[in-house]
Amino acid sequence: MRAKASDSPLSAIEAAVLVVPYFQGEPLGSLAAAADQALDGVLGGMREDGQATGVFPKFCIVPTQGRLAVTRVILLGLGRSQVVDGYRLRNALQLTVRDTRRFSERLAVLVDQELIAALRAQDPAQGEPVAVARAVAEGVVLGNYHLGQKKTAADSSAVAELEVVGLGSSSAIQEALTEGARLGEATNRTRVLQWEPSNQLTPTQLAAEAERVASESNLEVEVLDRSAMEKLGMGALLAVARGSHEPPRLVSIRYRPKTKSQSSKVLGLVGKGITFDTGGISLKPNPGMYTMKADMSGAAAVIETMSVIAQMQAPIEVLAVAALTENMPGGGAIKPGDVVSAMNGKTIEINNTDAEGRLVLADALGFAAERGATHLVDVATLTGSAVVALGHPVTAAMGTSKELIEQLQRAGTLAGERIWELPLYPEYDVALTCEIADMHNTSQTTSSGSINGGIFLREFVGDLPWVHLDIAGSAWHTDSLLKPLVPWGPSGVMTRTFAHLPFQMV
Ligand code: BES
Ligand code: MN
Ligand code: ZN
Repeated sequence: MRAKASDSPLSAIEAAVLVVPYFQGEPLGSLAAAADQALDGVLGGMREDGQATGVFPKFCIVPTQGRLAVTRVILLGLGRSQVVDGYRLRNALQLTVRDTRRFSERLAVLVDQELIAALRAQDPAQGEPVAVARAVAEGVVLGNYHLGQKKTAADSSAVAELEVVGLGSSSAIQEALTEGARLGEATNRTRVLQWEPSNQLTPTQLAAEAERVASESNLEVEVLDRSAMEKLGMGALLAVARGSHEPPRLVSIRYRPKTKSQSSKVLGLVGKGITFDTGGISLKPNPGMYTMKADMSGAAAVIETMSVIAQMQAPIEVLAVAALTENMPGGGAIKPGDVVSAMNGKTIEINNTDAEGRLVLADALGFAAERGATHLVDVATLTGSAVVALGHPVTAAMGTSKELIEQLQRAGTLAGERIWELPLYPEYDVALTCEIADMHNTSQTTSSGSINGGIFLREFVGDLPWVHLDIAGSAWHTDSLLKPLVPWGPSGVMTRTFAHLPFQMV
C-alpha cells in the first residue's frame, strides 16, 4: 500500500471513500464538522436520530451524492475518547477497512486534532503526530489482511492507496506513513505464517521463509539442522523434536547497523516456533486443537520483524533466533519422567510433554547468548494461563530487567501493542523443584502457570538482562465475544513492537 500525507481541502480529496472517525458523546472534530457541513448536516442528523452512536467500532456508510468528491463517507465510532489508545484506533480502522475495502482501492482518513489530543492524553509518545500517522497507516494496512487465502476464489480486495488528511504534509509525516505501511505489511506477513496450516508450514518451510527474509534484506542467516544441534548439546529442543517425522531447525538472522553504533548492545529476539503442538504424549484434548498450528507465532514475529529492522536501520545489532519443530506423540516421542540436558548443561525432568515451548526456548536462549546477545527477549505462545490471566488484548511480560521491560512497553505504545508485567517474586521459585534433576518442566501445582514458565526460562539466560513475553492470548483469538472488537484470528503481535525496541535501547 502507498500512503500519502495530504493538505487537500475536503472538497478535493479524490479517494472514493473517506473515513471520518469520531468519539461517542462528543461534538464532531473540526475536520469532521467541515465534512458534515459539505454534506448539508447529514452526519450531525445521523448522530441526533441515533443512527450514528459513536460506539466502538461501529460505522455508518453515507453516500455523498455529489456533495463531496469522495463517493462515500464512512462515519467511524471510536467509542469514548477517555479510553482510546493506539490498539483500539488500529483495530477500529482495521475492522472497517476489512469490511469496506471491496468498495475501493483508494481510501482517505481524516485525522482531527481531537483524536490526536485524546491519544496524547493516554501517553504523550502515542499522541505525537508522527506516531498517529504510523498508527493510521498501520490500521488501514492491517485491514488488508485476508483470512480466506486458501479459497479457490479468494477475495483479493485491498486498499492500495491511502491519503491521510489533517496531519499536514511535512516530510516527517510522509515518512511516518511509509514506515507505518511497512510495519503493517510485516505484521500481515506474520499473520499469514501464523494461520498457515501445519501441513503447509513445516519447520523446514518456516526456515526457508527466514532465509527469504534474510536474503531480501541482505542479512546474515544461519540454519542449524538436527546434527548441528546435537553438536551444540541442545538436548531440550531435540527432545521435543523426537516425536515428529518433520526435522527440526534452529534459524538465526543477524542485523548489524551500517554505521558503527555507539552502543555495543546486541538484542537477542528469541521466538518459539512449534509449527504444531499436539501436546505430545501428554496429548491435548481435541476442541480448538487446530489453533495449535499457530504455536509458532513467536518465531514468525521475530523473523518478519527483521525486514523492518533492516529498513528502519535500527541503531544496535539485533539477532533473531527461532526454534522450529513440531510437538508430536510419535514412537520416538519423549515421555513423562524422561530427563534431558539443555545446551547450558542443566538437567530437566519432563513431567509434562505439553510444556514443550520452554524446552525449545531453553536451548534457543542459550544459543542466542552463545552467539553474542547481550540482552534477551523471548516471545512465545507459552501458557494457556496467560489467556486466563489477561485474556487476548494484551501480552504478558516478566523478566530480570525492569529497564528492558519498560523499553518494551514504550516500544509497544508506539506499535499499538499492550504489554502488562507479571511479577517474579521469590516465593514462585519453588514451583519447579525436582528430586531427580535440576528442575521439572512444569509445576505440580496449577497456580501461577504463566509465571512458572518464566521461572523455568530464567534458568537459561545466565546473567543477561532478559524479558519473557507470553503471547498465548495476544497472538490470536477465536473468541466470539471479542469478534466485534478485535479482528478474529491471528494478530501478528510483537512484529511492530520489536521493530521499535532497538531505538528505545540506545
Ligand atoms: N502452546 C501451548 C500454550 C497455549 C495454550 C497457547 C492456549 C495458546 C493458547 C503450550 O505449549 C502448552 O501446552 N502449555 C501448557 C503448559 C502446562 C502443561 C504447564 C498449558 O498452558 O496448558
Ligand atoms: Mn504445549
Ligand atoms: Zn505449545
